[in-house]
Amino acid sequence: MSIAQFRGHPRRSHYTGPNLARALTIEDLRARAHRRMPRFVLEYLEGGAEDEATLARERAAQNEWRFVPRTLVDVSGRTPEHDILGVKAPMPLIVAPTGLNGVFCRGADVALATGAAAAGVPFAQSTMSNDTIEHVAAVEGLRHWFQLYIFGEDRIWHNLVDRAAAAGCEALVLTSNSQIFGNREWEDRTQVNGKPSLATIVDVATYPAWIARTLLHGMPVFSNVIDFVPKEHRGFFASATWIRQQMPKSLSWDTVTAIRKRWKGPFLLKGILSPIDAQIALDSGVDGIVVSSHGGRQMDWAVSALDVLPRIRDIAGDRMQVMMTGGIRRGTDILKAMALGADAVMAGRAPLYGLCAAGSAGAARALEILHKETCDAMGLLGVASLDALGPHLLAASGTMALPLDTKPTRRTA
Ligand SMILES: Cc1cc2nc3c(=O)[nH]c(=O)nc-3n(C[C@H](O)[C@H](O)[C@H](O)COP(=O)(O)O)c2cc1C
Repeated sequence: MSIAQFRGHPRRSHYTGPNLARALTIEDLRARAHRRMPRFVLEYLEGGAEDEATLARERAAQNEWRFVPRTLVDVSGRTPEHDILGVKAPMPLIVAPTGLNGVFCRGADVALATGAAAAGVPFAQSTMSNDTIEHVAAVEGLRHWFQLYIFGEDRIWHNLVDRAAAAGCEALVLTSNSQIFGNREWEDRTQVNGKPSLATIVDVATYPAWIARTLLHGMPVFSNVIDFVPKEHRGFFASATWIRQQMPKSLSWDTVTAIRKRWKGPFLLKGILSPIDAQIALDSGVDGIVVSSHGGRQMDWAVSALDVLPRIRDIAGDRMQVMMTGGIRRGTDILKAMALGADAVMAGRAPLYGLCAAGSAGAARALEILHKETCDAMGLLGVASLDALGPHLLAASGTMALPLDTKPTRRTA
């Protein structure tokens, strides 16, 4: 219930209909996604690890900052345009890599990429995506990035990196915090022995439109890696389990060095939370890092990306790119992250809510909403360009602290 309501009045509800122009916020798209997706899909999309403490922290950390808006600033020409890896983008946002998008609808990676291209922002395709790298690369006007997971023999990542390069991918992102799969028990409870439970099957049967959109031509396939999976493990559930089992728990900075030698373009490391690792990354040959708890899906009780961002920015200075991902649902979330030192943010669930609500047009709508909100919030905050953002525009919530870099001055009578 909101403070603006008296005992639940006036009654409020999100728009969940098909007219995307009436979806005003990411939460509207999320509400529609919840209407259209079976329970096991929603557990996959929404869930976090174990007690979901990190998942909750990713949002709570945003709540701990308040803006200190400036006034009487000319914001008539404001724009959230910003360079991402040296190339201008309409806003400093990348569609985060998400695996198994094929459970949301058939052709989901191409649909997300099409939405990203329409918004002019990069799309990072996951190793665990369901459309091929080459298929996604064919999306017109796309800034295509590839996210690498390491599993099995070295020849697998060699193959993926070479294919990403041949397909014209602009950047490579190595995700380093997922070699051990987070315990997402709410998702696991929808299965028995790695297969959907009876309750899940019964629930799925009540979503015929989802079945038609998603499963009519068969279960999704991990198209980019399935050829490396032994034939007897190639079923949908079996392949996911097999790939997870092959992720080396010995992954180290040596692999980062080896990838750096093979991949010539911009190279980012995703999954950093410790300032110590940020320090090591500086000398590892990467061009940047993505500060991330994997959206609360890996180590529970970890700090959130926003919590450690200022400290990591301090360490990185201008020696490498520092991006963050986690909990981005509003334009104001983007502004807070940028004010605390991010070069750009990656959004995972927000564009996925759009995708689940209405396919590629829904993903594009999610990005349009974030763009509009960012632009509006810049005007209200009194900044004409994102370069004007800094900690002086923020105060820690619930304190009377002055903006960080100002001293009180008094006029003498
Ligand atoms: C359904 C889902 C699947 C994901 N799959 C991957 C993945 O394959 N590779 C990866 O690096 N991160 C993956 N992530 C993490 C996202 O890239 C991103 O860091 C996270 O979603 C950020 O939090 P947000 O959803 O609050 O924006 C996934 C996240 C979600 C929600």
